[in-house]
Amino acid sequence: HTPTVYVTREIPEVGLETLRERYEVVVRTEKLPPDQAEVRARLRKLDADGLVCLLSDDVDGDVLDASPDLSVVSTFSVGYDHIDLAAAAERGIAVGHTPGVLTETTADLTWALLLSCARRTVEAHAYVEAGEWEVWGPTLLTGADVHGSTLGIVGLGKIGTAVARRTAGFGMDVVYTGPNRKPGREAELGDVGVDATYVDRDRLLVDSDVVSLHVPLTQATEEWIGEAELRRMDDDAILLNTSRGGVVDTDALDTALERGWIGRAGLDVTDPEPLPAEHPLLRHAPERLVVTPHVGSASVGTRDRMAEMAAANVEAGIEGRELPHSALRDAGLK
Ligand code: GLV
Ligand code: GLV
Repeated sequence: HTPTVYVTREIPEVGLETLRERYEVVVRTEKLPPDQAEVRARLRKLDADGLVCLLSDDVDGDVLDASPDLSVVSTFSVGYDHIDLAAAAERGIAVGHTPGVLTETTADLTWALLLSCARRTVEAHAYVEAGEWEVWGPTLLTGADVHGSTLGIVGLGKIGTAVARRTAGFGMDVVYTGPNRKPGREAELGDVGVDATYVDRDRLLVDSDVVSLHVPLTQATEEWIGEAELRRMDDDAILLNTSRGGVVDTDALDTALERGWIGRAGLDVTDPEPLPAEHPLLRHAPERLVVTPHVGSASVGTRDRMAEMAAANVEAGIEGRELPHSALRDAGLK
């Protein structure tokens, strides 16, 4: 029989086309995430061989058990904290993700937030739009210099390295932290004249004008930034999060912005996510806070590449080949 693939949301057409050439493809067209019962029912009814999901879909053991034929779950994201990898490994179900292709695009967005926070561009735009621009002002909307400042990278992986590489044109100092020193990454940055120094968490928090988070969400990184960390940061410092909302303790961040423990925050990811318009954190925007709706990888080209990669992972999984980008392998479970 022709294998069946269930896709929980419309992903870019290039990925769907590839899948349709080989498989029976059923795409759920609603915009909001399905609940798990709906995904289970669909997988069961279709006897699905493959599942393409988004980062907003929770895939647990019960979902994985819904169709006895399920051989692959392919997420349209680099992050896989929404998938129970251990449960997939136990069942011999392959899990694919989309690392690499979105690295530079996500680094670009991180810099958009960095520059917005330092130079108050969102606040400045709101000022003009509100008709408050009456005269040139000697101290109007003065912000922080980016050039010559110190960037602290938490997690010098692919994205963290791409963010650090962009400091070459800004003459910044770079420090980074993580469980291990990364000599390979340091050398890669050294090649473009960026000197990245490995420091411990406390040093990074104290020394950085900008702290940028580039770790996956795991038990070890959950609420990595909490009250103690925010108090340690400089009172003018900028916190950037383009990783996962759960890496930051939202209540502690709210207090930090309220009491001036840090200067500003730029968030592309939040906890909760989506962040409702009436959430208390938003009372700091746009003066102290800039928020974008999880659009780190959202360039047209990159989203197309992600769709192609998600399709390639499905094909490999259904054909019983090693996935081009296996989350189980990347998480060390295989
Ligand atoms: C986005 O956050 C992703 O994991 O791809
Ligand atoms: C993502 O691709 C990362 O390793 O940072």
